Amino acid sequence: MFVNRRKELKILNAYKGLIEKGHRVNIALFGLRRTGKTELLLRFKEMHKGDIIIPYLNLQKIVPDPVNISQQFSKELIYTLAKRDGKIKKPIEMEDLLLLASRLGDLEEEYVRTLIEIYKRRDINEANLLNILFEFPQSFAKKHNVKIIYILDEFQEILNVHKDILKIMRAVTEKQSCVNYWVAGSVFSIFDEMFNHKNPFFGQFKRIKLENLDRISSYELIDSFPVTLAEKQKRMIYNLIGGQPYYLTAICRSVVQEYAIQKQVDDDLIRYCIFNEIFDETGTINEHFEYILDVSLARFSNKDIYKKILFYLAEYPANLAGISSYLSKPSGEIFNYLKALLKTDMIYRSNDIYHIREPLLGFWIRRIYLGLPSERLDDKEVIGKMISDLQEKYLRASSELGKAKEFEFKAKLEDKFGIKLKNYRRNEIEFDLVGRKDNLWYIFEIKWRNKPATYRDLEKFLGKVTRSEFSRKTKRLLFISKSFTEKALKFAHKNQITVSEEDLEDIIEV
Ligand SMILES: Nc1ncnc2c1ncn2[C@@H]1O[C@H](COP(=O)(O)OP(=O)(O)OP(=O)(O)O)[C@@H](O)[C@H]1O
Ligand SMILES: [Mg+2]
Repeated sequence: MFVNRRKELKILNAYKGLIEKGHRVNIALFGLRRTGKTELLLRFKEMHKGDIIIPYLNLQKIVPDPVNISQQFSKELIYTLAKRDGKIKKPIEMEDLLLLASRLGDLEEEYVRTLIEIYKRRDINEANLLNILFEFPQSFAKKHNVKIIYILDEFQEILNVHKDILKIMRAVTEKQSCVNYWVAGSVFSIFDEMFNHKNPFFGQFKRIKLENLDRISSYELIDSFPVTLAEKQKRMIYNLIGGQPYYLTAICRSVVQEYAIQKQVDDDLIRYCIFNEIFDETGTINEHFEYILDVSLARFSNKDIYKKILFYLAEYPANLAGISSYLSKPSGEIFNYLKALLKTDMIYRSNDIYHIREPLLGFWIRRIYLGLPSERLDDKEVIGKMISDLQEKYLRASSELGKAKEFEFKAKLEDKFGIKLKNYRRNEIEFDLVGRKDNLWYIFEIKWRNKPATYRDLEKFLGKVTRSEFSRKTKRLLFISKSFTEKALKFAHKNQITVSEEDLEDIIEV
């Protein structure tokens, strides 16, 4: 069942309105894998059956060469228009298409005949074929007095069709008043590059980014399944998984399946379903991550080194020097690996620090490589430990503070104090950064939120220190936040906690 996406549909509908008024609107829909791009575009197509022509082609499903693409592209276009006026069969062979075209008229018949003629030649002039292909929709639309929104899904695949295809497509379609292209792509980095200033399509497409579902829409998706979950249980799923519709769907299906057997749903069952989907061999999220890892690393010969880098970054976002020293390899070599990994979308770089893009993927990578026997998934203690790990290490860091920020601070603080800093975690006690200079320990707490740090935040920090091995050591406590409440500042002074509002101003201007 399709849920929500009301805002996105509103935007698409507004653009459709513009197109009907004679404007030309090309759209590039961005989004990580499985965020619902295809669902959204198909939903849009479904909503507008008949009043505008919306052919849909998934380029990943066809062999990427000029002959194939011209056949599939033309079949879908002509079929979509013809079917508006009655039930017809989808053309399979070119002969079927010719028959259908001849029913529509001379223009269509002649076009299909030309294509068939070209396919028979021994040396096909591919650029010429592509020219004819992209010219046709405009004359077709004009003749039938319609507007066309041609949806091309997995658009990055078009690069494999012909080396000049973007140039040809741009030159031919640029001034077409009736034909619009709405394209979507999953491989973020490649797709992004296709629209940058070096490429023919720069400035030709409106970019729309599709994000995960928000909390309310996620609950709506959960509610669309035939098991009623308590508010608390929905919150648990959303807090652990986020609004990724594909993951949510997988977990809900698993809950439905377990419910059919156990006839009741409790929190433990939901936890089990979540981790089963993430880690069990047959889990959908597990399979998805395996697939991502497989396709992303497919082209690389020394996969082990890439995996080692991912394994490291999953826990410690790091800069080039950090990764090189971890792997004991020259930074020039590591730089090339990172460049290749950036193209896979699994990692991203922010201020020279490399991160795994999806916290859940990072969590999975660490666990899978550390070896997690699947039968332990119904051990409540194991699951409880995993939940706190996921929440505290991966999700907390990414949501509340953003690992990027933490590591920006790390580098700056290391410079400022001339010490090496590390995350600290021992006996259930965690500090954001800890380092030592001679006999003096530096302990940092970082809360990078939009609201001021409170008295409670500082008190908690102090409490943690008191319970930790540092309680009797010579130490300096430092608390970093965008701002502090009055009461928090008083508390800090009284307890000799250095706060970023005063002594660390140079640090927080990041
Ligand atoms: N709005 C939605 N309502 C309900 N389920 C959704 C919605 N969007 C996505 N989903 C679920 O997520 C799955 C993935 O969506 P979809 O295939 O559209 O993603 P995508 O971004 O096109 O993925 P890819 O990058 O692999 O092409 C769907 O099969 C569906 O189960
Ligand atoms: Mg898709």
